[in-house]
Amino acid sequence: MVQSESAANEIPATFENRMGAYFSVGTAKTPPLFAAARVGTTAPQITLRSGKRMAKAFAASYEGAQRESVARCFTLAIIESYWTQIQAGSQRPFPLPEFFAPEKSTTLPERASAIAHSMGRAASILEPLAAAYLVSVTYTAMLPDETRSRLGAYYTPPPLAERLVSMATRAGVDWQTCRVLDPACGGGAFLAAVAGPLANTATRISPEKFIFEIASRLTGFEIDPFAAWLSQVFLEASLLPWCHRINHRLPVVVQVCNSLEAQEPIEPGAHYDLVIGNPPYGRVSLKPHLRARYSRSLYGHANLYGVFTDLAVRFARVGGVIAYVTPTSFLAGEYFKSLRSLLAGSAPPINIDFISVRKGVFDDALQETMLATYRKTNACRHSPTVHFVAPTDEDELTVEHGGKFDLPEGGGLWLVPRRIEQPRLVEKLRKLPYRLSDYGYQVSTGPLVWNRHKDQLAEKPGKSKLPLIWAEAVTSDGHFQFRADKKNHCPYFKILAGDDWLITRKPCVLVQRTTAKEQSRRLIATELPAVFVRRHGAVVIENHLNMIRPSSEAPAVSAQIMAAVLNTSIVDRAFRCISGSVAVSAYELENLPLPAPEELKQLLGRAVSQTAVAKACLRLYTEE
Ligand SMILES: C[S@@+](CC[C@H](N)C(=O)[O-])C[C@H]1O[C@@H](n2cnc3c(N)ncnc32)[C@H](O)[C@@H]1O
Repeated sequence: MVQSESAANEIPATFENRMGAYFSVGTAKTPPLFAAARVGTTAPQITLRSGKRMAKAFAASYEGAQRESVARCFTLAIIESYWTQIQAGSQRPFPLPEFFAPEKSTTLPERASAIAHSMGRAASILEPLAAAYLVSVTYTAMLPDETRSRLGAYYTPPPLAERLVSMATRAGVDWQTCRVLDPACGGGAFLAAVAGPLANTATRISPEKFIFEIASRLTGFEIDPFAAWLSQVFLEASLLPWCHRINHRLPVVVQVCNSLEAQEPIEPGAHYDLVIGNPPYGRVSLKPHLRARYSRSLYGHANLYGVFTDLAVRFARVGGVIAYVTPTSFLAGEYFKSLRSLLAGSAPPINIDFISVRKGVFDDALQETMLATYRKTNACRHSPTVHFVAPTDEDELTVEHGGKFDLPEGGGLWLVPRRIEQPRLVEKLRKLPYRLSDYGYQVSTGPLVWNRHKDQLAEKPGKSKLPLIWAEAVTSDGHFQFRADKKNHCPYFKILAGDDWLITRKPCVLVQRTTAKEQSRRLIATELPAVFVRRHGAVVIENHLNMIRPSSEAPAVSAQIMAAVLNTSIVDRAFRCISGSVAVSAYELENLPLPAPEELKQLLGRAVSQTAVAKACLRLYTEE
């Protein structure tokens, strides 16, 4: 690939103005540091972050495989400069570790080359862990979006990697003897992070023994050969003083492979004391033999991180520790009930740290995430502890203790406090056996997937046309407003022969299906008013709404009261304890702990107002 001078000139000169190199979560207490910094003239972190932005813009002028090649070529140029610098004082510097897959030699435009060179120099001033992160996120930022999301390449910032390593230490990992696997090692965040404790405990053995032993004690799997090479580079950089002392290279510890296909350990002693990492996430369609292999933890759609969790249970020894960064969605979703059951039975959690913000933590990813340790065990379980971890713009983590929780049997939801004030509520929720079904209601999703019926959407009412109820009909303060004001939405739907299954003829409760934890309310519900249904004869409900419908002729409370219950702030808080994603699923609604219907009715008497329902619910959820 040859790049023209003019394209090279398109690399924008940009500068960063935040203090931290890893997080940008908007919590800075001090005013942001002004850094009118061109690459190479300022603090190394700022140089690397600015360089990353320029590199991303540079890569954006390419597509597909060519863009991937540019990403590797640019990152290689950073590493070449980095590797030379970190060995500047050495009499016998080592060459770079060999690639795992052949790399085409390509020429970067002069300006890009100069930026990469400055970035390498800047990285060489940092600890290897910090350098590993800032260089490898430059690589992933340059990749095409499609490649990046297919690989799930969102790397772990050093403060979180170190926190997870310290959680593993607290879980009892013995760094003097342990064997460690990272099955998705990416740019080496965890291999470099465990190098420290491994080396610290090796003071009583010779450097030769330590370096030779490393190959049998530390293993990384990675599907992307270039990322695998980055892991090997940064692990060797972390252990370079040891290697130089004995004038011996670090053995290769990273294997390029699809971890899901990797042969499970069979021999005694072949299992790992610690399986650590940040596995990729996202829905995946598994080949039949893999679906069969991981069937014990699958229910419906497979998610990569769930399968990697099952893999960790297979690769850890009995008594060993699993330390993973994952999304929180498995705590509640129905698709994860088999995984929860596997973990509850074979590798229950020891500690969970919730990361309290979604934005600005993982480069370019918006996910509710947690760090957790689990112990593979056949013995009895203890109540896991919970912490809340808040990253700050200054690259620190604030940690608050959030109490303990009890695991349910089997695949039930994990009722875990998600916020500092929630432990008492969780305690109460555990004692509430009532669910929507006890109120005489059941949940389904709105049947209309509009883009499969585009031709039937209509702007005006008319013959065979019914009102179409979209999510925006449920206002954020819990009222019904017949409207269709979002892009592509129309207020009416033309019914054709065979569309009967799309029609709703009875009043019900409508609940929005997607709400984020940052919203003031996760549960946004309203009654679909009986008068509206009567006036139009029937309606069609779109798929971004849940419908809570009576399952019996005489439900315990009216749809109006049911909607009011869901709209109370205490029930919203209860929901937040069981929800792990932006989805408000039928499964979660059906499993939401509710007060006894009779007690609620007694407290309400004839009152039906939102205020009366809120007061009654608050009492029923907080009083012993
Ligand atoms: C979320 S990243 C984490 C990387 C690194 N452990 C970290 O935390 O910075 C997930 C990594 O898994 C790799 N990966 C995805 N699918 C894989 C598979 N089937 N086998 C091995 N590695 C895989 C991706 O290439 C990516 O580097």
